[in-house]
Amino acid sequence: MSSLLQKAETSKILQPVEADLLRESGGAAIEWYGRAATALYRAYTIARKSSGAEAKEAEVILPSISCATPANAALLAGVTPRFADIDPRTGMPTLQNIQQCWTPQTCAVVFIHLFGQTADLRSLAEWCRARNVLLIEDMAQALGARLPDGTAAGSVGDLSVYSFNPTKILECGGGALLIRSPKLVPICTTLAGSDTLPPEIDDAQAKTLSLSYRNLHHSLVALLRTRAVDEVSTAFLKLQPAFRPLYLRHMKDPAALAVAWPQLQQVLEHRYRNAQQYDEILAEGNWQRISQWQRSGVCWRYSLLVNFSEKLVEFSEAIRRDGFHVSNLYWPVNDFFRPSDPCPNADEFARRIVNLWVDQTVDRQWVEKCARSLVRNASRFAA
Ligand SMILES: Cc1ncc(COP(=O)(O)O)c(C=O)c1O
Repeated sequence: MSSLLQKAETSKILQPVEADLLRESGGAAIEWYGRAATALYRAYTIARKSSGAEAKEAEVILPSISCATPANAALLAGVTPRFADIDPRTGMPTLQNIQQCWTPQTCAVVFIHLFGQTADLRSLAEWCRARNVLLIEDMAQALGARLPDGTAAGSVGDLSVYSFNPTKILECGGGALLIRSPKLVPICTTLAGSDTLPPEIDDAQAKTLSLSYRNLHHSLVALLRTRAVDEVSTAFLKLQPAFRPLYLRHMKDPAALAVAWPQLQQVLEHRYRNAQQYDEILAEGNWQRISQWQRSGVCWRYSLLVNFSEKLVEFSEAIRRDGFHVSNLYWPVNDFFRPSDPCPNADEFARRIVNLWVDQTVDRQWVEKCARSLVRNASRFAA
């Protein structure tokens, strides 16, 4: 099937999903991809074009606490990622953190709704507009979330990206770019008509490459976390081009998303109930709870900042030995891509963060036992 026919077919299958997303966000159009990474790649290309200059040295401002995908996609699009430090209470940058990263080359800011949290984005949007900088909302971890004023996350930026891939709120596969700003639609249409995305590798190659990337990333984080080295970006950036094909994927199974979409509210309620259960048991402890999910209505993973950062690895291992999933996401991305952007709050945040599962694989009983394991182990590991 030609790519144009395939696009029309995908759009037809996803018509109800498109209608809901466009209504909630006040959007003008949607493009479907295999990954949010591909949507980000396209968003950066649009930002470069709309900034007029198509400057070789175009820059995008990203949060330092995030998965590395938005930065990897930026390099693929030929845009330099710059990193904003974060508010230590949420892990997300403030307007001031973002302003400090601005240069005349800035063509876009990505605001990631981290762990399902949201923020009042009105002043950021205004600031971006005044500088002809596109605001991109990354909804990968916050599908269905509400902003503080009750409107939908994804309804403020010029562009929003969505992920439906494993570990996200819906895991049926796929990604999307939603274009809110009507003035960007002609640029998107021209891009869609004139280029196809660069060639895509097959699924088996992607799987091998993805595992290699994951192992590399884990190894480098372990070196930084244990302070065995204080610089990994030279090694990382030398290898990074080998992984670029990972970020370009076409939408393979739109029908799976069409089937999963009506379950969204149920999925969100399940996650919310699990988060409430953690919250009750973990109310008192040698940590701070990140509780903004209560306001946004969406919990991606229930997150805590422990007060005993030097014991974080031992603590997480002890919870795993008790049979529970736990992760320590994320390591500051500036350490991989641009250590010269200092992000001291992000470094401290990364040394304290614990994420717990709330998804469809866990239920009330599991959550209760997991929370009790945290309480028990914390009494041994507290500083
Ligand atoms: C904030 C954020 N943005 C983008 C992505 C990339 O999503 P995808 O795997 O669909 O490319 C992820 C996934 O890890 C993410 O957490």
